[in-house]
Amino acid sequence: MSDFKDKVAVVTGAAQGIGRQIAIQFAQEGAHPVIVDYNEEKGQATADEISEKYCEALFIKADVSSYEDNLRIREETFKKFGRVDILVANAAIGMKHKINEITPEVWQKILNINLNGYFYLVSAFYNDFTTNKGSIVFVSSGSALSGTGGSAAYCAAKAGGEGFSRALAKELGPLGVNVNIVAPRLIDSGPMMRVNYPTQADLDAVIQKIPVRHWGENEDVANAVLFLASKKNSYIHGQTLYLDGGRTVG
Ligand SMILES: NC(=O)c1ccc[n+]([C@@H]2O[C@H](COP(=O)([O-])OP(=O)(O)OC[C@H]3O[C@@H](n4cnc5c(N)ncnc54)[C@H](O)[C@@H]3O)[C@@H](O)[C@H]2O)c1
Repeated sequence: MSDFKDKVAVVTGAAQGIGRQIAIQFAQEGAHPVIVDYNEEKGQATADEISEKYCEALFIKADVSSYEDNLRIREETFKKFGRVDILVANAAIGMKHKINEITPEVWQKILNINLNGYFYLVSAFYNDFTTNKGSIVFVSSGSALSGTGGSAAYCAAKAGGEGFSRALAKELGPLGVNVNIVAPRLIDSGPMMRVNYPTQADLDAVIQKIPVRHWGENEDVANAVLFLASKKNSYIHGQTLYLDGGRTVG
């Protein structure tokens, strides 16, 4: 039987792209995905499709940068499924700005979603994880290490999320909660990748920087998230796993 049968996995930013694929793969393994997103149309459609094909899903329309919305995510998850086992903090926005183009408002917006949203999510569910074992995965980016591929605000938020994850791993590891980070880079999720590489010439140029000479797919990230959150993983903890074709480290 699958590790994930009847478990509940909250995945933020799951209306589309990488988050959607993570939610699908949890459902294919028998877990109930909670699809959190502020895009109601796509989020509800994803939840409906998953419920019809794989396992009952719940869509919650929420803005992860709101602390109150995160408290409501916890409340609605428990109302529907009565438990939580896995958190995947995936929702983020990407914007490409030079540092002198980043206004305080843009900086704040990116940090509010990409970093504060992660802390608010963990905070809302913290007591559930201290009483029940489970797994938390933060979706970062290779740019947290390399400083390229997004704006400086994006890189700063992702690096902050990684620091937070490592502190969380130290704090929750002794309680049986597994915490890890996946750091994708150039995944063909659709919009996010196109923000940074808008033309075919941009994509052709970046492929030359990737040792395996191709980009990744949503499944590459979802496979890694499911492995890290599964019982097959008991000893990878507080780590960053790069999903980047060998581009970032090495
Ligand atoms: N695609 C890549 O190449 C790549 C590379 C590095 C890191 N990542 C990371 O992977 C994750 C997923 O990226 P993606 O490519 O699937 O992006 P995407 O833009 O396709 O999906 C992001 C989802 O998050 C949702 N979202 C954004 N802000 C939100 C908010 N405030 N509240 C609720 N929902 C919100 C969006 O509506 C969208 O559904 C992100 O954390 C991103 O930083 C992606």
